Amino acid sequence: MKLYRANILFTPSPEAFQIFEHGYIAVNENGLVEGVYEQLPEQFKSAEVIDFGDKLLVPAMNDLHVHAPQYRNHGIAMDMELLPWLNTYTFPEESKYKDPAYARRMYSRFVRDLWTVGTMRASIFATIHPEASCLLADLLNEAGMGGLVGLVGMDRNGPDTLSNTVEEAVEGTKRVLEHTKNMPRVSAIVTPRFVPSCTPEMMTALGQLALDKQLPVQSHLSENPSEIAWVAELEPESTCYGDAYQRYHMFGETPTLMAHCCYTDGEEFELMRKNHVFAVHCPTSNCNLGSGIAPIRRFLNAGIPVALGSDISGGSGFSIFKVMQYALQMSKLQWRNSGQKENFLSLSEVFWLATKSGGSFFGKVGSFEPGYAFDALVIDDSDLNFDNYSLPHRLERYIYLGDDRQIVKRFCAGFEIAEPKI
Ligand code: GUN
Ligand code: FE
Repeated sequence: MKLYRANILFTPSPEAFQIFEHGYIAVNENGLVEGVYEQLPEQFKSAEVIDFGDKLLVPAMNDLHVHAPQYRNHGIAMDMELLPWLNTYTFPEESKYKDPAYARRMYSRFVRDLWTVGTMRASIFATIHPEASCLLADLLNEAGMGGLVGLVGMDRNGPDTLSNTVEEAVEGTKRVLEHTKNMPRVSAIVTPRFVPSCTPEMMTALGQLALDKQLPVQSHLSENPSEIAWVAELEPESTCYGDAYQRYHMFGETPTLMAHCCYTDGEEFELMRKNHVFAVHCPTSNCNLGSGIAPIRRFLNAGIPVALGSDISGGSGFSIFKVMQYALQMSKLQWRNSGQKENFLSLSEVFWLATKSGGSFFGKVGSFEPGYAFDALVIDDSDLNFDNYSLPHRLERYIYLGDDRQIVKRFCAGFEIAEPKI
């Protein structure tokens, strides 16, 4: 048993933080939380306590939508909307991952940067390239972090240098699955890029693979008006964009992440609700690509699961704390645009999205309730806390004003995670 003492904050439910000022957390041999306590319980009195003093201890971040092979492009090339951005900047960059040496150079930085910002688990789009995708899984696993790696299926409307066949996509995904089978926290996820990139044959095969191997699925949904119009043209039989996944068993038959959902409404909204499809909110990306504002309050009211994603390189930074800030700010614009009907998000709600709600995709992750994996960050905010702020205000100031310099320790599944080498 390990015992830590700190100012502990977490969100068992979206409505409020649970706060233990100078509290204790016990973590068992399996890296799972045993309990959180105001006072050290009698049975632990003789055990050694690792004291983090006045620092904050919070669950680590989960990034449920991020493109590892767009690493080189993050922070540049945001002068276009989605479809021209993909063709001009993104597809040429992703084509480079045919070269494993290039992949290693970029992916090791990618994993290091996830670590830097306190993201311990991520659901990741790789590329069409099996070797590079397995390498990404290795790097995450060697770091001790957790995640899902998606070998991307794309067999139409992309350049020849970034297209695979149906068989290559299926075999490539199986290869990542096989490659990760002994990794404790890394696995594979079925990843059709989005409907415009996948023929009905590709969708049929990937949907079948998800069912056969009981694998989760990730893709993009209703991100941008031109994209949605294009899907309607390409798939005239589908009753909505979401239905173009649903008809191929990739809309909640296995756990499913759909990034963006800025324009999800009507039938698509109802399908997501009924099938428990996650809407992965990527507000920084939605700003950069001028995509739109996702109706997160409506999703939450309806019980549609929601998580947060950086969507590098549509999103410009890795920090899920910054994504929280954007989620709060965008929700205020949505509140105004809805005639004050869709109430904006609260701090505890966005924190819950980043931790317990997003973490639930990986199992019992993202909270400090008993039985949860101890994924945690120790934050030294002493320089931001120059005048005795309350604990919720300290966390709020960290979210708005802090950065990775204040994160002094990171844990995943009970293990302290060292900085990955690049
Ligand atoms: N839709 C299809 N591919 C992509 C991508 O790489 N990024 C984003 N934001 N949307 C997409
Ligand atoms: Fe994306």
